[in-house]
Amino acid sequence: MRFPYPTGSSAVPLFLAPMAGVSESPFRRLCRVWGADVVVTEFLSAEGIRRENEATISKLRFGPEEHPIGVQIFGADPVAMREAASAVTEVFQPDYIDINFGCPVKKVVRRNGGSGCLKDLDLVQEIIRAVVQGTHLPVTCKIRSGWSEEMRDPVAIGLRCQDAGVKAIALHPRTRTQMYTGHAHWEEIAALKAALEIPVIGNGDIKTAADALRMREQTGCDGVMIARGSFGQPWIFRQARALLDGQPMPATPSTAERFAIALDHARMVQAYEADPIGAAIEFRKHLGWYVKGLPNSADLRKQLHAVNSFDEVEGIFARYLESDWAHEAAHDATHDSAESASEESHAA
Ligand SMILES: Cc1cc2nc3c(=O)[nH]c(=O)nc-3n(C[C@H](O)[C@H](O)[C@H](O)COP(=O)(O)O)c2cc1C
Repeated sequence: MRFPYPTGSSAVPLFLAPMAGVSESPFRRLCRVWGADVVVTEFLSAEGIRRENEATISKLRFGPEEHPIGVQIFGADPVAMREAASAVTEVFQPDYIDINFGCPVKKVVRRNGGSGCLKDLDLVQEIIRAVVQGTHLPVTCKIRSGWSEEMRDPVAIGLRCQDAGVKAIALHPRTRTQMYTGHAHWEEIAALKAALEIPVIGNGDIKTAADALRMREQTGCDGVMIARGSFGQPWIFRQARALLDGQPMPATPSTAERFAIALDHARMVQAYEADPIGAAIEFRKHLGWYVKGLPNSADLRKQLHAVNSFDEVEGIFARYLESDWAHEAAHDATHDSAESASEESHAA
């Protein structure tokens, strides 16, 4: 199935999911380097774009190396959505416009934005048609499986979206009332894929590269979108790519390599953000994710969650690498890879 925008040479493109406060320009660029084929901005309010709200507009910035990129917008007013799509197209020239019909956050759904729209599929179609009118770019959307368990019907929602003019659709198969609980119902991705003529991107609960392959095999989805699974491990894209292409999976970076990638990320953030202290504080969450699972990570995370500058981070990483904990991590990694090699030879 052909995507309406460039997706690189891969048969099954990998997407970095839109994530508020996470899929910002530096992280998007890092994930592109590590093999994400397509990236999407976090969701941006159509009203904010229309009123040229400074905070909203600043989140629309992206660099040439981020293409192909989609800009995701949300709102329940078709006129505002049309005008926002038109402004984004003219000023920022992304590869496509994505409409958010999935956000479960109260502040958004209270005004019928995000997944709030899923209660009224006539409104969903009205919004899509308005956005299509406002741009010459392909229009796509990201949905949940429905508003509630009683209203759960991703195929009906997807057919209405396709009928109104979207050119690809991403499904996170949970309902709004589920928020992030339970598990993503991948069988609904398979059902949507079987019912639609446009490309379907599967999303939800991909924590490892092997999960990406499993989703593709179980659902036949045209693309795979990773959100939380990219936290602190942007290399998941390169590993998933290899598995999808039938190649051996590249090794997971060592502790020292992980820290070097985290520092690369930090430098990109430092160069991008105007306020260095604010940027370091905002970056603490990424630091916590980069050290997840390491020996003594609770203590390491505590130190990292207190930093006010990127220089402090370098010092903390350097001390950890000299400590016994790092030797234990190296030992664990050798042990793990020996174990998995032995498991593979038993399986063969
Ligand atoms: C911190 C965070 C922010 C998110 N922000 C957005 C957003 O702006 N737009 C959107 O469509 N989905 C957003 N999502 C939902 C994700 O794109 C994705 O659908 C969801 O996390 C399920 O995928 P996963 O299991 O791979 O995390 C967000 C999720 C998280 C965890």
